[in-house]
Amino acid sequence: MTEPTRTLLITGASSGIGFATALAFCRRGWNVAAVARRADRLTALVEDGRGLSGNILPLTADVTDREAMRRAIEATVTHFGRLDALVANAGIGQRGAVVEAEWAHLDAVLRTNLDGVYHTIRAGVPALRQSGGGQIVIISSVLATLIAPYYATYAASKAFTASFAASLRMELEDDRIGVTEMRVGRTATEFNARRLGSTDNAPKQSHKLVPVMTPEFVAEGIVRAVERRSKVVYLRWFDRMLAWGGVIAPGVMGRFSRAQYR
Ligand SMILES: NC(=O)c1ccc[n+]([C@@H]2O[C@H](COP(=O)([O-])OP(=O)(O)OC[C@H]3O[C@@H](n4cnc5c(N)ncnc54)[C@H](OP(=O)(O)O)[C@@H]3O)[C@@H](O)[C@H]2O)c1
Repeated sequence: MTEPTRTLLITGASSGIGFATALAFCRRGWNVAAVARRADRLTALVEDGRGLSGNILPLTADVTDREAMRRAIEATVTHFGRLDALVANAGIGQRGAVVEAEWAHLDAVLRTNLDGVYHTIRAGVPALRQSGGGQIVIISSVLATLIAPYYATYAASKAFTASFAASLRMELEDDRIGVTEMRVGRTATEFNARRLGSTDNAPKQSHKLVPVMTPEFVAEGIVRAVERRSKVVYLRWFDRMLAWGGVIAPGVMGRFSRAQYR
């Protein structure tokens, strides 16, 4: 009997890490349901995916909308017949002091980075169970354990996903569903230019100290994490050191981060 073609749903597929990851899976013959709000970018993704071994289904949806994510999963299973992996990647950043920040900006970060992860996973798990198991990948950040002044809400949202992933992994192990938490470091995407709350998105001088990954490099790491059913992933020793620095010497790391984000 031939194996069924595996299917992945990824959120935030219209740019950066999500765009590259959708193509990386498609290249390996996976069917990919690609979710984001910008339909034109998803059309460009489908164009880039033409000729690769898998197929891409563009799905315009907002991860903060629970019903829209339920419909996205339903459309995926109707179109491809199954779901084997889920990548909760959609996320936004915000910079600036907590007290002075506009509530609408902080609210958007919380709705996207927390509620969006909930809605993606709660909608997707029944479909993974129907396929007999699978893998969930949550895109977190090295900031999950790194004190970061002027990035407090974003860093806390990623600390949330780190804790959430660890609990979820235990809840889903009897369903043969693994949970990967990707602690991603600085990557060259639209993320910095699009983050909320900042009047000055120009890179700081100290930013030059932090090496930058390509989204394609991160995408290959996500493919490996799904194949190996990894638990917590750092893609570089630099990121691992930053994260551990945040645990061992939070004050020193906080001063380093301050120069980055202020
Ligand atoms: N870049 C970095 O340095 C870095 C480092 C660590 C972790 N990360 C994490 O990596 C993930 C991907 O970010 P990226 O760097 O690839 O940034 P990006 O290029 O800005 O991509 C963000 C993606 O999220 C989608 N998105 C945002 N809000 C959404 C919503 N409400 N509903 C649906 N989709 C939404 C965007 O699509 P639409 O606007 O079209 O909806 C876009 O496709 C994020 O979770 C981010 O926190 C990034």
